[in-house]
Amino acid sequence: MSLLPYTQWIIPQRCFMSRFHVYVTRRIPDAGLQVLRSAPEIGTLDVNPHDRVLERHELYAGVKRADAVLCLLTDTIDEEVFRAAPSAMIFANYAVGYNNIDISAATAAGKMISNTPGTLTDTTADMAFALLMSVARRIPEADRYTRAGRFVGWGPMLMLGSEITGKTLGIVGGGRIGLATAQRAAGFRMPLLYCSRTPKPQMDAIGGRRCSLKELLTQSDFVSIHTDLNPTTHHLIGVDEFKIMKRSAFLINTARGPIVHEEALAWALQRGEIAGAGLDVFEEEPAVHPILMELENVVLCPHTGSGTLKTRSKMGVMAAENILAALRGCKPPNLVNPEVFRNPEDHS
Ligand code: GLV
Ligand code: GLV
Repeated sequence: MSLLPYTQWIIPQRCFMSRFHVYVTRRIPDAGLQVLRSAPEIGTLDVNPHDRVLERHELYAGVKRADAVLCLLTDTIDEEVFRAAPSAMIFANYAVGYNNIDISAATAAGKMISNTPGTLTDTTADMAFALLMSVARRIPEADRYTRAGRFVGWGPMLMLGSEITGKTLGIVGGGRIGLATAQRAAGFRMPLLYCSRTPKPQMDAIGGRRCSLKELLTQSDFVSIHTDLNPTTHHLIGVDEFKIMKRSAFLINTARGPIVHEEALAWALQRGEIAGAGLDVFEEEPAVHPILMELENVVLCPHTGSGTLKTRSKMGVMAAENILAALRGCKPPNLVNPEVFRNPEDHS
């Protein structure tokens, strides 16, 4: 085809400068919003005025006229949402995980989906390590004890915890966050096991040994979950897995709740099949299994693994940049379903 249709296509785009409408499903730190606010092609930037997850009808109304949507892991983005957003080109997810989005429905509807890989790697690995240390050394429990006025003097048997240095760390999932968590273990001289679909040279380079999940579970003193949530990792850790873990072992989960069978975990902890758990994510967030709420040997966090202002700002900027690329007809840098992108210069 000649260049003519392309030229005709771009001129109306120019005329419509400042006419794009962007919808943000919840307020995020200002850095990301600022990128959108200062973009000349964005005419309207609408941010959910409530600091809460939108009701379905509010979400439908919000995306109705949007050319691009910045959404969160707490928004279920499915076929109905795509139908409610006829002009939206992109849904930029403010997260690295995108299990909240029906990707095949997005692709079928011609909607681009992006995520924020890399922005939160270190922050989440820090959280995994913080949970590991907190539960091993019983820090939240000791804090509660001290605040309750129960500390009446040093005691040789008081609040004894578990060793960390020299203990075996098992990383389930060999991606960026798993690697960053493994790197933190070097200072603690922890032997390292990992399981992932493919060998990871960077893991091997820091002394990691790739093994089966079964071997990892039987050998590790700390098991830390770093896979994404997909049909093959749903309930990856359940009744049978807890049975083969050491009774002295701890489970750390900063990935996604449903990777672990939460009720089986609660029972395993209650029966002493494992020693404790550090959890940042839950199966039915924001609900937490009632048994977990009662146990002292569990450290609970409200899905704050990426929760520093710096990281949340970087995530917002990255999501905003994906939106701007889409609005400009360019390929968003973190496109999850690249088959949807049609190069505007490709007239075939
Ligand atoms: C957080 O949970 C994320 O996936 O970014
Ligand atoms: C994912 O593994 C990330 O680090 O962004």
